[in-house]
Amino acid sequence: MNINGSVALVTGANRGIGQAFVEALVKADATRIYATARNVDSLKDVVAIAPDRIVPIALDVTNLEQITAIAQTAQDVNLLINNAGVSGTGGFFAAASLETARWEMETNYFGSLNIIRAFAPILKQNGGGAIVNLLSIASIVNVPVFASYSASKAALYSLTQGVRAELVEQGTLVVGVFPGPVDTAMAENVPLDKVPPIQIAQATLQAVAQRVEDVQPDPVSQQVFAEFAKTPKQLKNNLPVCCLSSTFASRCA
Ligand SMILES: NC(=O)c1ccc[n+]([C@@H]2O[C@H](COP(=O)([O-])OP(=O)(O)OC[C@H]3O[C@@H](n4cnc5c(N)ncnc54)[C@H](OP(=O)(O)O)[C@@H]3O)[C@@H](O)[C@H]2O)c1
Repeated sequence: MNINGSVALVTGANRGIGQAFVEALVKADATRIYATARNVDSLKDVVAIAPDRIVPIALDVTNLEQITAIAQTAQDVNLLINNAGVSGTGGFFAAASLETARWEMETNYFGSLNIIRAFAPILKQNGGGAIVNLLSIASIVNVPVFASYSASKAALYSLTQGVRAELVEQGTLVVGVFPGPVDTAMAENVPLDKVPPIQIAQATLQAVAQRVEDVQPDPVSQQVFAEFAKTPKQLKNNLPVCCLSSTFASRCA
């Protein structure tokens, strides 16, 4: 689909990869961008990028009432970018692991599902359009230090596959993006090379334009997918991501 002339809605647009999506959409000549964030005041700098085209909206992806109200007004959306996400740390046996796991699942999985369910009919009425889900390499390999985050992103991957099949008849393209480490607040303690968020946004918009469903937007992502294609069971032992936890570092080559 054409990004030029599109009307996009981005969740978690106030910083990180979400802000980069807004910048990339402006550059690619999107007509209107609904930039959403939990705290609308945190969008001031983002709106300043192109005040005539960026519409700030308060949106918590776990708040169904808010989502329903926005869907009633943003009826022109044809590109939905599910970017908002959270990540705790610690394995499945950490003290707060149940609370952390529920929070991640509520935001990363159910939050995206809430928005997709509200906007699928709008995309249909606007000719099909596209949905982009921000997955992760952690969608295909469990990263020990982000154990329950990985589980939530694996769930979101399955959601992506299911929604793709269910919306094929209405012509909606469903794109999954699988970044490795990106230089944002979420990955600030990750001791690996990180790519800038704009790289993820640009690679994704290019994929949407070319109707590519699965996006590996950086070298770590490409390495993970190459290893997975060869030896899925060995993947967790063969990658730098396993070194993210000192507990597991001894397993790394
Ligand atoms: N950074 C990485 O290495 C990396 C790698 C792979 C995938 N990803 C994925 O990329 C996406 C963006 O992450 P990022 O790196 O840009 O992280 P980030 O800088 O921490 O940004 C996360 C964004 O999500 C928003 N958010 C959190 N909970 C929300 C909720 N309930 N409702 C609405 N917005 C909410 C945050 O808003 P507030 O400001 O209100 O907290 C913020 O805008 C996430 O889905 C993440 O899992 C990141």
